[in-house]
Amino acid sequence: MAEQRYTEVKDLAAHTGEVVTVAGWVDTLRLHGKVGFVVLRDGTGLVQGVLVQKQLPPELWERGTTLTQEACIALTGSVKADDRAPGGFEMEIQGLTVLGASEEYPIQPKEHGIDFLLDHRHLWLRSSKQRAGLKVRSEVMQAIHDFFYGRGFTRIDTPILTGSIGEHAGTLFETDYFGEPAFLAQTGQLYVETACPAFRKVYCFGPTFRAEKSKTRRHLTEFWMVEPEVAFADSDDNMRLQEEMVAYIVERALERCTEELKVLERDTTVLERIIPPFPRISYTDAVARLKEKGSDIEWGRDLGAPDEVLLTEDHDRPLFVYNYPKAVKAFYMKENPDDPRTVLCDDLLAPEGYGEIIGGSQREDDLERLRTRIREEELPEEVYGWYLDLRRYGTFPHSGYGLGIERTVAWITGRPHVREMIPFPRLINRITP
Ligand code: 4AD
Ligand code: MG
Repeated sequence: MAEQRYTEVKDLAAHTGEVVTVAGWVDTLRLHGKVGFVVLRDGTGLVQGVLVQKQLPPELWERGTTLTQEACIALTGSVKADDRAPGGFEMEIQGLTVLGASEEYPIQPKEHGIDFLLDHRHLWLRSSKQRAGLKVRSEVMQAIHDFFYGRGFTRIDTPILTGSIGEHAGTLFETDYFGEPAFLAQTGQLYVETACPAFRKVYCFGPTFRAEKSKTRRHLTEFWMVEPEVAFADSDDNMRLQEEMVAYIVERALERCTEELKVLERDTTVLERIIPPFPRISYTDAVARLKEKGSDIEWGRDLGAPDEVLLTEDHDRPLFVYNYPKAVKAFYMKENPDDPRTVLCDDLLAPEGYGEIIGGSQREDDLERLRTRIREEELPEEVYGWYLDLRRYGTFPHSGYGLGIERTVAWITGRPHVREMIPFPRLINRITP
């Protein structure tokens, strides 16, 4: 069947006054006596089809007025601009074919519980707020590729099945690899680092997996992360790249997702203020500030979500917290020469209570120090041989970071939970649909 037969709803403006055929799904159906309104959704937009009983053969009127929600239909009619119609266009229906009937649709225009909606995620995707959120996600991902492409980065795809631990031993998904244990990647970082001597500026972008038992609005067990890595960049360069990238993707969302942000009722004035430079505070100063605010945090402890909220409440832009204690961060971070209790790293905390969206650092480039850290963390040294080789054969200063897509999109769209920011969320108690 030729797709070209159907005009896309987004192109209707160019067909005003013409008779065209569109195809899509029944979003809503309303009857007012001898007139019916069918709103069709084709994935590019919404158009309102108008059925007028006295102008139609009885069987067509009958077919039109007995349509069910989400039936797949083709509508033929003349196109007319109408500000009152959803989508801004109306079609006076002359022909209507049911391409795929729909049984009683489970999702009704009423409040459903979240478990019900997640059980029906494959259908929930069609709802307006879900469409809007996933559209922003898609735009954000494209913007990230464009950002790095424009700056001469090479994309490197890193493996998902791995033999080494990327971040923390505690949150690994283990699988059987022909009788040997293998792990789902928690990060592509260690691999992408090795591509620096080949391409200087690189990034990987893919799904990552963490067997985190956290049941919070910020945790998924499968999430997408973009991870750039730059040779000869130090921790300050790293933070500059982060703020430029975040400002770029927010701007792209504002520019190209105006309608979606409106559907999501997002206050976009907040996003318009996301302009570099972002404020920076050291971990040590952050602890002092938190104590002033009444937190019981002690130096040495990792910041929890409530700490992040307290710290960001004074800022309308994302906040960098840099140089955390070594003990709460991953083994590969470079020791801070000015204070060896800390490492040269940063977390970027989004405003409005969203918390950490980026974790980044300068990498330990000294072979012996890195080996010591691997031993201290009781990681299996033998599987890190290839990673240590990067420090054996032409070691170099380098830095990088990871930005979590779902957390970033939740913040940009102002949605409360990461589970709506990925088509099929994987949560501790959910692996279907
Ligand atoms: O801070 P993380 O653990 O950093 C890394 O994985 C580094 N290897 C990145 C790098 O330097 N190349 O994770 C980075 C980001 C977090 O800031 C957060 O946005 C997201 O990944 N993230 C999660 N998102 C959803 N669910 C989870 N369970 C997440 N864990 C981390
Ligand atoms: Mg982190």
